[in-house]
Amino acid sequence: MNRIALFLILLTGYPVFSQNYDEAKVPHYTLPDVLKTTSGKIIRNDEKWEKLRRPEVLKLFEDHVYGQMPTDYDSIRYALTEDDGADMAGKAILKQVGITVFRKGNSVQINVVLFIPAQAKKPVPVFLLINNRGKENTDPTRTKKSEFWPAEMVIDSGFAIAAFHVSDLAPDNKDTYMTGVLQKLYSEQLKKENGMKAIGAWAWGASRVMDYFETDKDIDAKKVIVVGHSRGGKTSLWAAAQDRRFAACVTNCSGNTGAALARRQFGERISRINATFPHWFSNNYKKYNDKENALPVDQHMLIALIAPRPVYATNASKDLWADPRGTFLALKAAEPVYELYKIQSGLPKDPPGIDKPVIDSHFGYHNREGEHNMTDYDWGNFIRFARKF
Ligand code: GCU
Repeated sequence: MNRIALFLILLTGYPVFSQNYDEAKVPHYTLPDVLKTTSGKIIRNDEKWEKLRRPEVLKLFEDHVYGQMPTDYDSIRYALTEDDGADMAGKAILKQVGITVFRKGNSVQINVVLFIPAQAKKPVPVFLLINNRGKENTDPTRTKKSEFWPAEMVIDSGFAIAAFHVSDLAPDNKDTYMTGVLQKLYSEQLKKENGMKAIGAWAWGASRVMDYFETDKDIDAKKVIVVGHSRGGKTSLWAAAQDRRFAACVTNCSGNTGAALARRQFGERISRINATFPHWFSNNYKKYNDKENALPVDQHMLIALIAPRPVYATNASKDLWADPRGTFLALKAAEPVYELYKIQSGLPKDPPGIDKPVIDSHFGYHNREGEHNMTDYDWGNFIRFARKF
């Protein structure tokens, strides 16, 4: 820390963070070898990956980053309101689903908005958005329309589209995040250094919506694409890594502790994310503030946990905070695990230019011109990507 920063901390009482946005100042780093087990074995095939290394990497992320992911509950109930199929001028059927999950006498409710193409003759694939913005973005009445969840566009493309709001699981607030799933169902998690926090709770919610999809005959539950933007994109990665029922993952501008490599220390860093959002990741993750190189994982290994399923990652050109180059490099560094399944990522060697999407590939990637956001441009590419699978 330099003397000016120290002086400012003493003066204001607040830590002062500086961000690097200069590629020349990215430190030299070595990524942990995704194919090398902690006991030093080199993984050479998918079977060994699944048996030895994958569980190990998943546990490292639980213990050091996102916290444990409890999977047990006593029962789950679905309350469905289905309309008469007159939505979007007859193009879609709206279902609103209240999912109630019970454990040890307590419960939480997750509210899902789901539009299904009215013309569908067989179960359809669905995009599930983990909504971290205002609920008006997923307005079931369609009075308000938003590029963040362009339901009409998705329906016109023949896919179903669904969303739930993160606040149903854990308020996105450092003082109240524990009042949802954590206090109600899994209070033991709050006592652990590797306990789940808000992002874990949101990902847990995505899996409960997946439980519902498996019961809905209009949905092809083998083709559920989990989508998230920014903090939601960190969550969609963690959800897809944990729950292999998700067929594919879209992580939009997810940046630090999402799809971008931590060791590059470019844009947002671990110390900063932990200070601003202490309620997102496990307590253990705080040990890596300003110590990226001590982490036993980096974010390429999170992407690798999704193998062999397709992943689409995005950035925006003005969103250096989320490190576009670091996101591309994380995808590249996950390739060896996909190669164990004989899958080539299809990515070029170097990051493509702005607005030059790579879609015809197993890893999708684009860097959209503009700001940190999720727009029609992004969704248009997700649809084109999803069509191939
Ligand atoms: C902040 C945070 C990011 C996060 C973003 C968002 O900028 O630092 O890590 O991705 O909010 O969720 O929009």
